Amino acid sequence: MSKLDFIDEELRRLESAALLRRMRRAAPSRPALRDGTGPGRLNLDGREVVNFASNDYLGLSTAPAVTAAAGSAAASRGGGGASSRLLSGNSDVHEELERRLSAFKSAEAAMVFPSGYQTNLSVISALAGDGDCVLLDRLNHASLVDGARLSGARVAVYRHADPDDLERALKIISRHRRRLIVTDALFSMDGDLAPLGDIAFLAEKYGAILMIDEAHSTGIFGLRAAGAAEHFGVEDKIDVKMGTLSKALGAQGGFVCVSSPLREYLVNKARGFIYTTALSPVVCAAAMASLGIVEKNPGAGRALLERAAKLRAEIKRIGFDTGKSVSQIIPVIVGDSARAVALSSLLFKKGFYAPAVRYPTVSKKSARLRISVTIAHSDEDIARFVEALKLCA
Ligand SMILES: Cc1ncc(COP(=O)(O)O)c(C=O)c1O
Repeated sequence: MSKLDFIDEELRRLESAALLRRMRRAAPSRPALRDGTGPGRLNLDGREVVNFASNDYLGLSTAPAVTAAAGSAAASRGGGGASSRLLSGNSDVHEELERRLSAFKSAEAAMVFPSGYQTNLSVISALAGDGDCVLLDRLNHASLVDGARLSGARVAVYRHADPDDLERALKIISRHRRRLIVTDALFSMDGDLAPLGDIAFLAEKYGAILMIDEAHSTGIFGLRAAGAAEHFGVEDKIDVKMGTLSKALGAQGGFVCVSSPLREYLVNKARGFIYTTALSPVVCAAAMASLGIVEKNPGAGRALLERAAKLRAEIKRIGFDTGKSVSQIIPVIVGDSARAVALSSLLFKKGFYAPAVRYPTVSKKSARLRISVTIAHSDEDIARFVEALKLCA
């Protein structure tokens, strides 16, 4: 019996429950590189596939203005962040990116972090601690759950997108020193929106701090494409608007948009900001170029949502459950993990990549394919995908 036997045992257990995860090797699709179809195609494990697993929703990671900005930042400033922002890693590009993000999100200030995951861990654990309570939607992203656990605060979970249940929880925890409500704005595995108007109302009524995660809604929802808070008209009611540079903005990193005093507080308290190397200037330049494109053409998000609505209707028509999705993220809920994996492999053989999402990312009985529609998918890709899904059912 070796001290490391548990590793093999656990891997075997995961495999027999159809829960073992493996990385595939992705490379740019050669035809897509030629015709500029961006994230809609991918070479995966050596096979050309139509890719429904990219969060580069607007195809901005390969937009010429973005790659040019990244290239020239790399040439003039180098590839890495070199040091913590609090030592010598802060630069005019970081500050300019933060100014641009705060203007885009109608906030006083912004602060960038090396990843969205790190942003959530750092910000939640800086805002809450012993004696406080963090209230989480049951379907929140893992980074929000992990941030709440790390904080040491009591964690309370309310029913998914249910303001009545949130209010019930707020009444129970009224004696805690600080209450922090944390919710995804657009849920990453279900593609539905949190009822931000009701949640903002309750936050105000019960004096709770409100933080929303706009990782998947930034660049897509709202007239200016600023996100779900803009879509619901509650931008000024949210204390912490978190977002990522890594999805519709096609770059890397996370950020929060907050008041100036809160930014200063986080600069001093957010450990994932203090004890880490600054976001690379290359990434800052790329993100700024993407932001410029979104600001000039905020209607791209709307066009994407319309395309996704058509695909969703087709998937439903052939008899699949797409849950409550209203966005570019469409779950095809099949229930059983083994069935989700089998369906995903059949589709892969037909030239489509629609990954299976299983426990613990989603609950045990709701394994699914997670379809992520991008602006790069053509009507033909969508029609062929629906046909293939029908045949694989
Ligand atoms: C809702 C949500 N928040 C945060 C993150 C983390 O962002 P990043 O990938 O930039 O670390 C993700 C990414 O998967 C996400 O879906």
